[in-house]
Amino acid sequence: MTDDKYRQLDAHRLDPKAAPYTTDQGIRIGETDNSLRAGERGPTLMEDFHFREKLTHFDHERIPERVVHARGSGAYGRFQVYESLAEYTTAEFLCDPTLETSVFVRFSTVAGSRGSADTVRDVRGFATKFYTRQGNFDLVGNNIPVFFIQDGIKFPDFVHAVKPEPQNEMPQASSAHDTLWDFVGLQPEITHMIMWLMSDRALPRSFRMMQGFGVHTFRLVNAEGRSTFVKFHWKPKLGVHSLVWDETQKIAGMDPDFNRRDLWESIEAGDFPEYELGLQLIAEEDEAAFDFDLLDPTKIIPEERVPVRPVGRMVLDRNPDNFFAETEQVAFCVGNLVPGIDVTDDPLLQARMFSYLDTQLIRLGGPNFTQLPVNRPVVEARNDHRDGYHQSVIPQGKASYHPNTLSGGCPALSNGLAYTHYPEHVEGVKTRTRSDSFSDHYGQATLFWNSMADWEKRHIVSAFRFELGKVTYPHIREKVVENLNHVDHDMAVQVAEGIGVEPPAKEVVENHGRSSPALSQDRQPTAGA
Ligand code: HEM
Repeated sequence: MTDDKYRQLDAHRLDPKAAPYTTDQGIRIGETDNSLRAGERGPTLMEDFHFREKLTHFDHERIPERVVHARGSGAYGRFQVYESLAEYTTAEFLCDPTLETSVFVRFSTVAGSRGSADTVRDVRGFATKFYTRQGNFDLVGNNIPVFFIQDGIKFPDFVHAVKPEPQNEMPQASSAHDTLWDFVGLQPEITHMIMWLMSDRALPRSFRMMQGFGVHTFRLVNAEGRSTFVKFHWKPKLGVHSLVWDETQKIAGMDPDFNRRDLWESIEAGDFPEYELGLQLIAEEDEAAFDFDLLDPTKIIPEERVPVRPVGRMVLDRNPDNFFAETEQVAFCVGNLVPGIDVTDDPLLQARMFSYLDTQLIRLGGPNFTQLPVNRPVVEARNDHRDGYHQSVIPQGKASYHPNTLSGGCPALSNGLAYTHYPEHVEGVKTRTRSDSFSDHYGQATLFWNSMADWEKRHIVSAFRFELGKVTYPHIREKVVENLNHVDHDMAVQVAEGIGVEPPAKEVVENHGRSSPALSQDRQPTAGA
């Protein structure tokens, strides 16, 4: 049992009622309602240091909002694994069933600004920071198991298309605008994700009733150095529930904080949100056993082929004390990994390994944001980094370089406790060519459509009609319908008929994807095994 993070946070809490009003320098102030003036009706004096400090601090209150996922809501909680996963990983929080690991979770929408409404049609972020005794591990996921693009170099293009348009900053929601649908028409790799986005999954009823997915294939590595591919899943205890479109529209007007309020109030009421962590585990030798590439983030691994094994439980039981200090300043990064967990060569994941730290350097004002209370690991961070804005610890000693013979500096760990990167064999010629194994953009979109009930299909068609019907340019609408025709002809015709586009001719059925060899039997994990 650990409540390390809560105890660590206690040291940073400030109760303004506990002491009299002071300046930032601790000087007691008796009057904060009237500035110091030359005469009762005279000008304010520059020497009024309290007035100047108060105004200056106010003037500097805003920091940049996140470039994506700007609107979010957070909560603390705890995670516990059911039984040891030492067969797969050395990550202690996944191997010790007696250990409760503190977590902070931030749920978010993607496209809207910090003040936008909760119930828009959008992907939801589901980011979890595990404060483990081996350092912070961040699982920075979404509520939809696939992504819009395959290569991170396209992320700025995608986000520029999905964000409000540059000339007039409209629309605030993620869909129903020309640039998004222009991009969709031109990037067939987006098709699977767009099917999810037009489904009710993009309208969650509550953060408590929403799944989470790590999306990419990651690796677990055990004490013998054996690697197993893994997909991470969160399943909500309350099941998955969505709003319907008309509800979302009314709620956005009546209570733009609908999802945020629901999370806050359920935790205040002691009705704690719960999620089960599940893993899809794939033996290293089965990397090529699928009709898609495991490194392709626009694909799911069908659960019929690799069942999700439930491995642990997370409970969110505490609201933050201060939105800005905690929910706004929390900094997640897919590169925050602990021993026993590693990344793969997924080109989207590789880009994310760069982007989060990079953006946080500007969003949170320099390299010391890891010292902020919500970001600090529960173990002490020690290294030879120096200085930078907002240094708030006082490193001791003379030497801050490695190695050294003088006082100071940190000995580097040479035993098995240190993080080691999985020694994957890598070779190849430099190229910008994408592998053929990433080329099927429609097969899983069709599977998704076929898995829908009739009423779900009707909702998807209505969503396409609503969104595409608002697009100004006929050629964009036509191009999207052309792509949808590769997914399902009847669906494409239904969409076309609702948006004034000529229904497409019947699509010739293609053999999407590659053949699927059998999984290796000896390693194939079974559900609950
Ligand atoms: C936030 C970049 C793909 C989930 C962010 C932020 C950036 C970013 C710059 C803002 C971070 C901050 O200011 O602290 C990227 C890039 C991607 C990518 C470059 C692709 C190359 C994804 C994918 C997922 C995802 C595939 C889900 C699996 C999130 C979440 C947040 C976020 C949940 C919000 C974290 C929070 O609550 O603070 N991303 N992202 N992103 N991203 Fe991504």
